[in-house]
Amino acid sequence: MGRNPWFESVAEAQRRAKKYLPSTVYGALVAGSERGRTLDDNTGAFAELGFAPRVVGHHAQRDLSTTVLGVESAFPVVISPTGVQAVHPDGEVAVARAAANRGVIMGLSSFASKPVEEVAEANPNTFYQMYWTGTRDAMSQRMERARAAGAKALIATLDWSFSHGRDWGSPAIPDKIDLKAMVSLAPNVLPRPRWLWTFAKTGRIPDLTTPNLQPPGGKAPTFFGAYGEWMQTAPPTWDDVKWMREEWGGPFLLKGVSRVDDAKRAVDVGVSGISVSNHGGNNLDTTPASIRLLPSIVEAVGDEIEVLLDGGVRRGGDVAKALALGARAVLIGRAYLWGLAAGGQAGVENVLDILRGGLDSAVLGLGHSSVHELSPDDLFVPDGFTLTARAPRTVGPVG
Ligand SMILES: Cc1cc2nc3c(=O)[nH]c(=O)nc-3n(C[C@H](O)[C@H](O)[C@H](O)COP(=O)(O)O)c2cc1C
Repeated sequence: MGRNPWFESVAEAQRRAKKYLPSTVYGALVAGSERGRTLDDNTGAFAELGFAPRVVGHHAQRDLSTTVLGVESAFPVVISPTGVQAVHPDGEVAVARAAANRGVIMGLSSFASKPVEEVAEANPNTFYQMYWTGTRDAMSQRMERARAAGAKALIATLDWSFSHGRDWGSPAIPDKIDLKAMVSLAPNVLPRPRWLWTFAKTGRIPDLTTPNLQPPGGKAPTFFGAYGEWMQTAPPTWDDVKWMREEWGGPFLLKGVSRVDDAKRAVDVGVSGISVSNHGGNNLDTTPASIRLLPSIVEAVGDEIEVLLDGGVRRGGDVAKALALGARAVLIGRAYLWGLAAGGQAGVENVLDILRGGLDSAVLGLGHSSVHELSPDDLFVPDGFTLTARAPRTVGPVG
């Protein structure tokens, strides 16, 4: 009898992903930068927070539903956009279907392997993510395309600084998959027959292009072509962010905020929400875990805009902790990528079920009837856990 396809934790999904994926693909998902300190802290910090459960007075019915930027969600978990290729032939469409089946929002990266039209068809509650790359005309055209496909919000991810190199080595990824690349990848891919077979059945090989960045009448750039354009684009100012928000004209989430002063500037330029995030530990290493920075940012802007969090969420209990410290919802990255690698669409559904179940247990054990009742009183927060990054006060002349 074959192994039960169902898995009981995200850690088990990750073990299976490691087993099934070629090591280059697995390594690209682990990612992280430099020492991997932020990567580890994102998950480790959640374990430092303790629950304060109640013994009696539990509720038989619990409501986990919420809204994120005005869009309904069965529970407060959003699929975070990830520009990854080659995990599964159905890629982001499989993820979008899983999210739709579980009633949650799909975040689609503009660096993704599937076109926004197919993804939004699979899940009408799709948020489209963009970086600041290319000309304003090109960005307008990409926004227009996402809007026409039915995307309900724009996610602007701006926390990237092209830091390369990690102590455990970076996987070699070809620019495009041709015969030469196949030959050089063979030692890596052939020991993973299951992954090879999933693609072979579809008659396709991962082509590593970015269809959402295809100019009208042109060809979709390769992943590295798109990355090159991004590197050469002058970084945005706050005025550019304002332009982007106005050009989009609908709900707008700024992803990648770590500082209180940035959160306030985001409010000033009119965003609808922010995600406290360090790009899953892939940006500047030694940035503290997003959960440590969340409380001070919520205190500063939580009454004005929706504050989300991403980074390190692997359990439903982590979702409960983020909500208790003021997040409206969390976004998940690697958790669903491990599920996708382990079992395609069903694997992503499995991960969402794990998170939902764990969140429900936490809400039950903490004696609440709704996720909206979670509060800091539900947690033991160790001294020094919460960190605040803000601009120093301007010191005026004395006297
Ligand atoms: C392999 C990989 C690719 C990613 N690609 C993108 C991307 O294209 N756009 C984006 O906004 N964030 C991207 N991210 C960041 C995620 O959206 C998210 O912030 C991060 O994964 C959250 O941390 P977690 O993986 O611990 O949940 C990527 C993350 C990973 C691991």
